[in-house]
Amino acid sequence: MKAVLSYSGGLDTSVCVKLLKEKYNCEVITVTVDVGLWDDLKEVEEKARRLGVLDHYTIDAREEFVKDYIFRAIKANASYEGYPLSTALARPIIAMKVVEIAKKEGADAISHGATGKGNDQFRFEAVFRSRAPGMKIIAPIRELNLTRKESIEYARENRIPIPVDIDKPYSIDENLWGRSIEGGELEDPNFTPPEDIFLWTKIKKTEPQVITLEFENGVPVAIDGDRAEPVDIVMKMNEIAGSHGVGRIDMIEDRILGIKARENYECPAAVAILTAHKHLEHLVLTRNELRFKEVVDSRWSELIYQGLWTEPLRKDLDAFIDLTQKRVTGHVRLRFHNQACSVIGRGSRYALYSKDAASFDDKTIDQREAEGMLRYHSAQIEMYEKTTNRDICQ
Ligand code: ARG
Repeated sequence: MKAVLSYSGGLDTSVCVKLLKEKYNCEVITVTVDVGLWDDLKEVEEKARRLGVLDHYTIDAREEFVKDYIFRAIKANASYEGYPLSTALARPIIAMKVVEIAKKEGADAISHGATGKGNDQFRFEAVFRSRAPGMKIIAPIRELNLTRKESIEYARENRIPIPVDIDKPYSIDENLWGRSIEGGELEDPNFTPPEDIFLWTKIKKTEPQVITLEFENGVPVAIDGDRAEPVDIVMKMNEIAGSHGVGRIDMIEDRILGIKARENYECPAAVAILTAHKHLEHLVLTRNELRFKEVVDSRWSELIYQGLWTEPLRKDLDAFIDLTQKRVTGHVRLRFHNQACSVIGRGSRYALYSKDAASFDDKTIDQREAEGMLRYHSAQIEMYEKTTNRDICQ
């Protein structure tokens, strides 16, 4: 049997290579999809080959990831309970690339290293099942009910290289939109995260920094007047915001299975860009659009969290979102300092803002015109007060 495995080079997926060979009698082809992994991908390939794979693919999906996934997330102000969906956004594109290779290779099975407790299994399998219907799915860690300790033990027995800091057994996942750190001592929700778990948000700059982020049709296109490619804009924003310690999130998250989990994230670019984007929307969209879009954005985010990228509703919502974003063009000025990112200015040719209307020093609007509206604004409450017998109704 030939199995294609989604491979990151980490402990779990390395253990999966061996398990697929030994316990499932498979020949294994590994696929590593680059969504902004900072690891040396040549090393990841060599590691896979040393584990005895039939073949290995490395796919650079960074540009597609930013343009088709991250940019959609920005337009949708994507956030699930305060988490900017970094891992959740990347799983579908990874799964789709793995499916493509499985089909090309005429594989019998398709495999991932997710556990039976988390969200990633749902995300991989929603794509596997919808894009490769009928293909056998193997999830060794879940099917063998392995704990992290048992995986480490198995790795030791099978001479699978183990990370040097295995005494800090965190589960880490990273891509261009963020880094997540979970497990080990962090599983105690009251445990203060040690400084050394953070890599992208160490404070390197002590002076405040102000930048101008320009948007076109809802997505960032330039920093301080310098236009840049989508991947570069996200990387640059990770660097700028991260160097001020912006983007740390420590939260309790409701997983798909209903389990509450303690999560730590570092999402500098996501926090900065989403903050700016939302503020620009407030300048250019109507009150009604903003209120309705909140509902759409939260439905969109929930679908993505649940791994339902291929669900048609996601595209339906995108159609609405894209239409609103045609006017989300302009700039936002951001100030970074001491773990905070604040908006200190914004502008757009589509602004629905009138200085004359809002100003206390202007007579364009005759204040007395408000009187008629005031009379009707509370008319029903006045009637209620007059007619209602308080003894019965309160
Ligand atoms: N809780 C986050 C999510 O579900 C992060 C998952 C991280 N995955 C991992 N294998 N470490 O999106």
